[in-house]
Amino acid sequence: HQGLVEKLDKVVRQYPDFPQKGILFRDVHPIMSDPAIRKELQDYYATQYQAQDIDVVVGLDSRGYYFGVPLADRLNVPFVPIRKGGKLPGATYKIEYAKEYGKDSLEIQIEAIKPGQRVVVLDDLLATGGTIGGACQLLEKVGAVIVACEFVIELVDLDGKKQIPQGVKYNSLLKY
Ligand code: PRP
Ligand code: HPA
Repeated sequence: HQGLVEKLDKVVRQYPDFPQKGILFRDVHPIMSDPAIRKELQDYYATQYQAQDIDVVVGLDSRGYYFGVPLADRLNVPFVPIRKGGKLPGATYKIEYAKEYGKDSLEIQIEAIKPGQRVVVLDDLLATGGTIGGACQLLEKVGAVIVACEFVIELVDLDGKKQIPQGVKYNSLLKY
């Protein structure tokens, strides 16, 4: 997949001091604007997960949806969102977490995933790991088996991988 990584690296742009002073923001949206690169990335994810008996694809609010829904389509399995707090109706589990620039909460609908179902979790970017750490706690509460966590980008210096539970695989394509 080296060719894909190089193409992604060429289009992802960086913005100093966004959304706050001191943050160097990496923007995935140019990937979404380019149909050829977008499709190549979707094909790559489908190849990675088609033989892994995935029952549910989970995407993290909001940029994880860009990559999660197309993978769920390819695998022909349900897509389940983990949303920011206060946006999902019905019975939910909720968790507070810290991220690179502030605090937030995440929520999942309890009945969206059955105990023992095998899930892959997608997000655009791993920074401090607060988001994925909170998401994994919610998935453990509903009894999901987390097959892997996938990120397009990892900000390596922030060491977010330490928030992913021991023994859960994770992958990132672009490491900055
Ligand atoms: C960003 C990004 C990840 C998270 C990474 O989302 O899309 O979900 O932060 O940071 P962390 O590893 O430090 O937790 P954000 O909360 O800005 O929401 P958005 O996708 O709705 O823009
Ligand atoms: N880019 C996009 N999202 C983010 C970043 C970033 O650099 N850091 C935390 N969330």
